[in-house]
Amino acid sequence: MEQKKVIEEINRLRKEKNAIILAHNYQLPEIQEIADLTGDSLELSMKAAKTDADMIVFCGVSFMAETAKIVCPDKKVILSVEGAGCPMADMIDADELRQEKEKYPGVPVVTYVNSTAAVKAESDICCTSANAVKVVQSLESDTVLMTPDKNLAKWVERHTDKKILYWPGYCPIHDRLTTKAVEEARAAHPDAVVMAHPECPPEVIEVADVVRSTSGMLAYAKESSAKEFIVATEVGLIYPLEKQNPDKRFYPASPEMVCEEMKKTRLEDVLRALKEESPLTHIPEDIRKKALKAVERMLEVPR
Ligand code: 13P
Ligand code: SF4
Repeated sequence: MEQKKVIEEINRLRKEKNAIILAHNYQLPEIQEIADLTGDSLELSMKAAKTDADMIVFCGVSFMAETAKIVCPDKKVILSVEGAGCPMADMIDADELRQEKEKYPGVPVVTYVNSTAAVKAESDICCTSANAVKVVQSLESDTVLMTPDKNLAKWVERHTDKKILYWPGYCPIHDRLTTKAVEEARAAHPDAVVMAHPECPPEVIEVADVVRSTSGMLAYAKESSAKEFIVATEVGLIYPLEKQNPDKRFYPASPEMVCEEMKKTRLEDVLRALKEESPLTHIPEDIRKKALKAVERMLEVPR
């Protein structure tokens, strides 16, 4: 089917089924273009919870569809591509977290939203890259266990007075960025502001000008008087950055920062997901309720 026909069919089905299409900031441009909402994973789920849609097609990876299901239990939540997953989220499972917790009785567990529902359910509170420092600061305990991202944990440790114990997970895409690559990009664009995601390694964070989540980078670029930016996160973010700031220039810190899992979704997948209503995201209710508690506790933390 030609692309125009695929989009027409997507539009017909989304209307007929009262569906909403969500796309993470890292999705391919054609997917971001047809989405009803774009943003970071939690932002998308929270916005979706407020709509009266019966169905959510989530263009992203499985933990994002799970997060949508945690906060929107009455909606059908469909992941755009079966098996699209996040390698970092899969670096810890609920059994491993239970065993880790046994080593540190009484220590609260802060889990990044980039995690499975089962791991969230074993956690006291969730965090995102945008609010991790405030979430950790809000806890009374002097020691906190963070999962699954060691880089986010180390960044938080630098910005709080807490002792942070962490699980050794990482995002393979952000973790492989080197200071050499950033310095080369800076040499090529000496006036550019370097924006880095907290999933990057500490030595990269050290040389960055600002550290932000993907939505934080979008907000920063809009408000900043700078005209050029080096973007140290997944290359998909360049598309919305350029679209929202046609007078500014954005350069990837490294062209190798490509998350294959985020790039799996094509327009045909969205159409198929809407047609077949699969794969449906299902979370056992006891796990969903516990995971929701961790998400809700996070939302109670003042911004
Ligand atoms: P945010 O969009 O929350 O910054 O997360 C980045 C990411 O790696 C999502 O997979
Ligand atoms: Fe996971 Fe990293 Fe891909 Fe985000 S960019 S989905 S954290 S592997």
